[in-house]
Amino acid sequence: MILVTGGAGFIGANFVLDWLASPGNEAVVNLDILSYAGNPETLASLAGDARHIFVHGDIGDSALVARLLAEHRPRAIVNFAAESHVDRSIHSPGAFIQTNVVGTFNLLEAVRAYWGTLDGAAKSDFRFLHVSTDEVYGSLGKDEPAFTEQHRYEPNSPYSASKAASDHLVRAYHHTYGLPVLTTNCSNNYGPYHFPEKLIPLMIVNALAGKALPVYGDGQQIRDWLYVKDHCSAIRRVLEAGTTGEVYNVGGWNEKPNLDIVHTVCALLDELRPRTDGAAYSQQITYVTDRPGHDRRYAIDAGKIERELGWKPAETFETGIRKTVQWYLDHQDWVANVQSGAYRDWVEQNYGERVA
Ligand code: NAD
Ligand code: DAU
Repeated sequence: MILVTGGAGFIGANFVLDWLASPGNEAVVNLDILSYAGNPETLASLAGDARHIFVHGDIGDSALVARLLAEHRPRAIVNFAAESHVDRSIHSPGAFIQTNVVGTFNLLEAVRAYWGTLDGAAKSDFRFLHVSTDEVYGSLGKDEPAFTEQHRYEPNSPYSASKAASDHLVRAYHHTYGLPVLTTNCSNNYGPYHFPEKLIPLMIVNALAGKALPVYGDGQQIRDWLYVKDHCSAIRRVLEAGTTGEVYNVGGWNEKPNLDIVHTVCALLDELRPRTDGAAYSQQITYVTDRPGHDRRYAIDAGKIERELGWKPAETFETGIRKTVQWYLDHQDWVANVQSGAYRDWVEQNYGERVA
């Protein structure tokens, strides 16, 4: 048995689906509060599968977590649960402190108590894997080397500051109490089941709806993109063979300016689902007011995980983005269902105030 938190979100759900698709893997207890970003429909294919136990709840609910640990006695925990969207953290930082900082702290306390009851191999083999982000390292200049695990922490948004705080707590629980933790810091993911508040799915969804494609600022901010299933394989590898107390950076060696990403999405849609008027989707690109405090460049040096654990991404950006655009074309029902009233309120709040 493993316990996954946040397994109804984008990366967590991909992880649970991939984990259970692999014969021989243990059952999963999936603890998720089902925030706006949590979507049980993503897990619909697991209905009736006894290896998936979904629990609706909060990582910050110590009593609930203690009960789940005592009942299911997991050999590992993979912590995906978080508030994850930078723009939302700018509008409403409180939720980020509550889940990413206080929630992670409460989770660690419950896990520390549970781990203290184990002995022998159960104790030494136990793992707590914390899923984090490259954003904790701050922003790079154009010619600076990519982030290694030694890069100092310089978080710039309420989101990245809250993730940095959670990373520090995880580190401290290893250093002080000996809890066998692992931390992964990954770059921007994309792929199936990505909530359409984030750049790539938003562009696909807006393009197909004939809406503006809102590029923040000059669109020259650089991100390093990794196909979500490669992130999941990296997490499995770190869980299997990572050294406790260590940090592993995960990335796709794939830096691209946002504007290039948007043009790539438009070109794929031109090919796969041309506009009925024959015009290019790129005509819908609109430059809007920049994100406050917008980090200019992220780049991950994924050399350590490759050298020490033999992990490399399987997808190139070209193969991954084609699969992703095709997935959204094939799953318009999933998209329609996540565009609830709450989603429309968010679009109005975030984009309504931006000047084109
Ligand atoms: P997401 O927002 O899509 O999903 C987060 C999930 O956590 C949702 O299902 C939500 O309901 C759940 N959740 C939120 N608060 C909770 C709480 N208090 N208790 C239990 N569940 C809760 O996020 P994602 O993009 O899948 O990211 C998952 C993790 O990976 C996050 O920790 C994020 O910081 C990290 N990460 C994301 C990326 C990326 O590009 N998306 C890259 C690197 C790291
Ligand atoms: O780097 C890893 C991080 O990647 C994760 O930790 C976060 O959880 C995840 O959300 C993501 O953060 P970003 O802020 O990089 O992702 P987002 O998709 O929101 O934005 C990507 C870039 O595109 C960023 O430079 C802002 C820009 N952007 C975004 C949106 C939503 C736009 O230009 N227009 C938009 O409408």
